Amino acid sequence: MSRCSTLYLLLLASCIALFSCSEAEEPLAPKYKTGLAEKELRNSVIGKEFPQQYATYQRNNESEIMTEYKGSVPFRKNDNVNPLPKGFKHAQPYLKNLWLGYPFSFEYNEARGHTYAVKDILEIDRISRYDEKGGLPSTCWNCKTPKIPEWVEQHGDDKFWAMPFNTFRTADKISMNDHTIGCANCHNPQTMELAITSFPLDEALKRQGKDWRKMSRNEMRSLVCAQCHVEYYFQEAKYGPNRKPVFPWDDGMDPNQIYSYYKTHGIAEDKGFEGQFFDFRHPVSKSLIIKVQHPEYETWYDGPHGAAGVSCADCHMPYVRMDGKRKVSSHQWTSPLKTADSVNNACRQCHADKTVDYLKERVVYTQNKTFENLLSAQDMSVRAHEAVRLAGEWSESKNADYDRLMVQAREMVRKGQFYWDFLSAENSVGFHNPVKALDTAQKSLEASQQAVAYAMQATNYGIAPKLEGDIKEIVPPILEWSREKQMDKENLEAHVWTKYLKPLPKAEPMWHLQDKIR
Ligand code: HEC
Ligand code: HEC
Ligand code: HEC
Ligand code: HEC
Repeated sequence: MSRCSTLYLLLLASCIALFSCSEAEEPLAPKYKTGLAEKELRNSVIGKEFPQQYATYQRNNESEIMTEYKGSVPFRKNDNVNPLPKGFKHAQPYLKNLWLGYPFSFEYNEARGHTYAVKDILEIDRISRYDEKGGLPSTCWNCKTPKIPEWVEQHGDDKFWAMPFNTFRTADKISMNDHTIGCANCHNPQTMELAITSFPLDEALKRQGKDWRKMSRNEMRSLVCAQCHVEYYFQEAKYGPNRKPVFPWDDGMDPNQIYSYYKTHGIAEDKGFEGQFFDFRHPVSKSLIIKVQHPEYETWYDGPHGAAGVSCADCHMPYVRMDGKRKVSSHQWTSPLKTADSVNNACRQCHADKTVDYLKERVVYTQNKTFENLLSAQDMSVRAHEAVRLAGEWSESKNADYDRLMVQAREMVRKGQFYWDFLSAENSVGFHNPVKALDTAQKSLEASQQAVAYAMQATNYGIAPKLEGDIKEIVPPILEWSREKQMDKENLEAHVWTKYLKPLPKAEPMWHLQDKIR
């Protein structure tokens, strides 16, 4: 190791030991004068000014390497039956069951590099290829492209978000390469200073009395990721611009604080749930479900690294040498565990006293324990829906308090699934915050067990015999489901749960990527 990097490590180590790298001591964030237009968004144009960072950015196209749990092969996350690239051993078999009636049940894949973001959203079955509009609002573009500020300016904050997704689908509106997540999402193209371009993050910080323009460089090295790697929801028209993305952080960022936030901010009318927020009604248990999305930032911030001030960029954008000499921040955002080199770059800058194998094993140790708990929580959530389904249809002897018990049962289904999904949707399988991961799994399990207990009590335990035994036999996992499958009545009849769905109108695909094909 060269003297220079030893010195760097020592500086870094003492910085961490002191815990607070005070702002004055931080090296200045790089500032450039590019001569580019203020509103330049194209990756190839900005990238041309910074060929070394751009070369690392191109590595996001890597799409074949897996680690023990993660990596960049976009396998289907409910399929633990087929081998890669279709399925993978660490998949959760009940995803389609738990999201039944919501577009997530059609397709949900492992994430890959930022360079695929636009292409992947154009291919995913959650956005409808079968109709003109796409079935979802433009909000879905928010985390795929730096185009959002331009579109909001053109169409207005009050109108843009609720416009149909497919309004912006075609090649005259967006380029799959030049406008996928890129430079202008995180940098001012004129100075290359880090910048927040996300409306919901800017506004969530404002509500907390914070301004990212005044935050430290180290905070910005994570905040740029918090533009997208967070939980969010689509706002109801009653509360402001319809379908606008909002971060539910006003009560705090822990699962319990976010869950409590969702007790308001919605338009539910069900007795006992008035005014609560929900994404969809599960057709089987009739519970009002919140779909959680990738809360990496909320998981990381008070974990062992986040609390110690280790940023997302420290691990996911380590310095790499280009042409054997210049050090630049790697712009390949991916698993740091893919190769010995990547572990070395990402982790050993701080953990120089540990070997690559040791570090990898520590991560996998946490992930194994987390995944076991995640699967138990998932199974119990399915059992909870099934118990409430049975209790809802029960016509024999009922508890005198049946209605109240059913409200409580549905509340516990909702809660159990929220905590399960918070952990399930988080992309580190526990590593970003091992203690919070296990706590979240435990809270999920507890709530889903209570749902089963209330449902049993409501029916004077009449449904109990139907819930005996292995949940996989009582409610089999739905391995295959898609928009096309839901168009066929016969498919609906094939599973106890899909019977509750309404068939979709029969149609041929109308879109292929950016082209209209009929
Ligand atoms: C997801 C956010 C993000 C995106 C997208 C992004 N960057 Fe960066 N970039 C960063 C962060 C974080 C740093 C580190 C800044 C710091 O430490 O002050 C950085 C640093 C840089 C630097 C400073 C020198 C260095 O290597 O640290 C340059 C130049 C740069 N990026 C260029 C680009 C270019 C060109 C693109 C598009 C091809 C791009 N960035 C896309 C987050 C991003
Ligand atoms: C504008 C939104 C956005 C921003 C900003 C963003 N990401 Fe992402 N990130 C995504 C999306 C979307 C994907 C999935 C893309 C796909 O699968 O097509 C993704 C994927 C990833 C992956 C998985 C890649 C793989 O190989 O599996 C990692 C790791 C990641 N991002 C880390 C980061 C980090 C670290 C930052 C901040 C420096 C960041 N991201 C900023 C939206 C964003
Ligand atoms: C201490 C290092 C460290 C920090 C800090 C960190 N991560 Fe990670 N991250 C990891 C590791 C290790 C994994 C697991 C990778 C694996 O299993 O292959 C991971 C996984 C991920 C993944 C999934 C990668 C994939 O292959 O799909 C995403 C996305 C991600 N992190 C985003 C973030 C964001 C956003 C932040 C900041 C809020 C962050 N990480 C902070 C180390 C870190
Ligand atoms: C910028 C410095 C830094 C980087 C980079 C970093 N760590 Fe750490 N790591 C720390 C600090 C600080 C702690 C907390 C130490 C403590 O509390 O005593 C820590 C704690 C840990 C722990 C023990 C806590 C736990 O989660 O079980 C493990 C394991 C670990 N790091 C693994 C990794 C791995 C793997 C990577 C690379 C993906 C990595 N670290 C990258 C600074 C870093």
